[in-house]
Amino acid sequence: MIESREDYNKHYKHSVDNPRKYWQEYSKNFMWKNSPEKILSWNFNDPDIKWFEDGTLNITENIFERNIKNKDDTAIIWEANNPSESNKEYTYSELFDEVCTFANVLKKNGVEKGDRVIIYLPMIPEAAISMLACARIGAVHSVVFAGFSANSLSDRINDCSAKVVITSDGNFRGSKVINVKGVVDEALKNSDCVKNVLTVMRTGSDIDMVKGRDLWYHEESKLVDNICTAEEMTSEDLLFILYTSGSTGKPKGVVHTCAGYMLYAQFTFENVFQYSRGDTYWCTADVGWITGHSYIVYGPLLTGAKTILFEGVPTYPDASRFWKVIDKYKVNQFYTAPTAIRALQSYGEKFIRDSDLSSLKVIGSVGEPINEEAWNWYNDNVGKNNCPIVDTWWQTETGGIMISPLPNIIDCKPTYATLPLPGIQPVLLDNQGNEILENNVEGNLCIKYPWPSILRTTYGDHNRCRETYFSTFKGYYFTGDGARRDENGYYRILGRVDDVINVSGHRIGTAEVEDAINLNKEVIESAVVGFPHEIKGQGIFGFIIIKESEKEIDYFSSIRETVNKYIGPIAKPDQILIVPGLPKTRSGKIMRRILRKIASNQFDNFGDISTLLNPDIVEKIISNYKKLSK
Ligand code: WT7
Repeated sequence: MIESREDYNKHYKHSVDNPRKYWQEYSKNFMWKNSPEKILSWNFNDPDIKWFEDGTLNITENIFERNIKNKDDTAIIWEANNPSESNKEYTYSELFDEVCTFANVLKKNGVEKGDRVIIYLPMIPEAAISMLACARIGAVHSVVFAGFSANSLSDRINDCSAKVVITSDGNFRGSKVINVKGVVDEALKNSDCVKNVLTVMRTGSDIDMVKGRDLWYHEESKLVDNICTAEEMTSEDLLFILYTSGSTGKPKGVVHTCAGYMLYAQFTFENVFQYSRGDTYWCTADVGWITGHSYIVYGPLLTGAKTILFEGVPTYPDASRFWKVIDKYKVNQFYTAPTAIRALQSYGEKFIRDSDLSSLKVIGSVGEPINEEAWNWYNDNVGKNNCPIVDTWWQTETGGIMISPLPNIIDCKPTYATLPLPGIQPVLLDNQGNEILENNVEGNLCIKYPWPSILRTTYGDHNRCRETYFSTFKGYYFTGDGARRDENGYYRILGRVDDVINVSGHRIGTAEVEDAINLNKEVIESAVVGFPHEIKGQGIFGFIIIKESEKEIDYFSSIRETVNKYIGPIAKPDQILIVPGLPKTRSGKIMRRILRKIASNQFDNFGDISTLLNPDIVEKIISNYKKLSK
């Protein structure tokens, strides 16, 4: 573990001067079936990146068998949605039993190494258990956030031709009960690859079970034992697929492989949170996102940490829930998203005033840029001016944290993610692809050297991986973010430079939302852009051309419902503007920068609009906007 600023400097220099040696040394902390000799081969043009190629291992052996002296330590504390329901705690040895039992149920139902398994579960212990069960037997998990619609779920099931779907009979979320199994049933109408649906009982809701296809987990688990030897995986075998949105087309399956991901998840967890044995750590993300994968499940468990898995929401039963949970378990490291901070801030100090929170040592932020006001509120009210804030920048594709302060080692600066972790070589490029070497500049954030948990491909479409990440700037991994570097070399992330909107820390592609909106039968065409939103960071603004109609139609509700149906509630537009046309170039491309300006209430400095096919449409759109805002 890095312990001081000097130590960081030494690590960083070593990791850049001799990356192979640096990561080879770190790899010795792990349990290999075959220790790797070949540390790294790579080329960013293809891309073809291999870490520890000739090594073999199983990530779950590195959680359970490697840390055998920790076997009676608590691994997971599960806190239910409803505070009056008792929690559950698993020691490492109890968790190991559960994982092996689950793995045996999968095996019994024909799941083999390499098979894809979709996990569509609420935040219950089985979410983590089933991920680890897949890893134990070499099956590839793909967790789908349980807020996605049937349509989004079936796209993902089909894209990876999943053999099994793991779900539950329901989801308690705040005051609601959500029928997740019903969503799976709906999704499977469009999928024929799935042989079985394994259903975990959670709510006791009355659900349909399809004979021959649907199985209850509690029944299946009685038929197997709890001994399951770990499948031997090569380092570059697939560990999981996680779907994420981009600027074009449907979500793509980001692929992470076994060894590199494992190393980097543990490395970043222990350094960024400065975790010591006995600490209690809590990350509030959902396992459906990469944050949940790396920093609820894999990173903490590889480190032997005590990690909280929280089923609920920040505002149930009221806006003091987070603070109550922190006090209840004396949480030492707390990791959440700016959108949650802003939302809780908006409820007022009365919900946090009576909380003690003195157990906290480190507090973290992830998912979107944290604005200064939210940073200060977090610092004053949660950290009590006494906890470093780790503003961690990273992505689904990077697998782990890339740029972040290290608590008490690298000084924090509000809104800055600060410095790269060892092994990470960020650069800023101008639009022509030249590296900008000086400080106090802005540019396109790229990474010029591979790190162990860089994505390897996008599932089933390697070309798309090349096009999206490795073609814009030849020889670099392009993050899609813009960044600024200050006089001390600190990085501040400015947000996406592509057509991706970051709503409450969730990545949503404009094309995806437009495709959904266009499925509404009243709509002819649409364009969506992001606009500043007080709580969500960015909101979604839809410019819509509609068919003529005799009827009185509530377009706002109707369009939101369509998006809800095809993607899920997180992608519902916050604002809709009916327009007579869209600003298009001669080649038919929508000039989104104009729409972005209008959506943020700015009507000048549109730049050059002479290439527009229909320049006068701009004034018409503005005039409709002004009518709407009145
Ligand atoms: C995008 C990645 C990484 C887990 C959660 C989101 C934005 C992420 C920060 C931060 C500013 C951030 C970027 C990035 N982002 N963390 N600390 N400061 N922006 O994962 O869905 O893959 O989204 O989130 O724009 O590209 P994701």
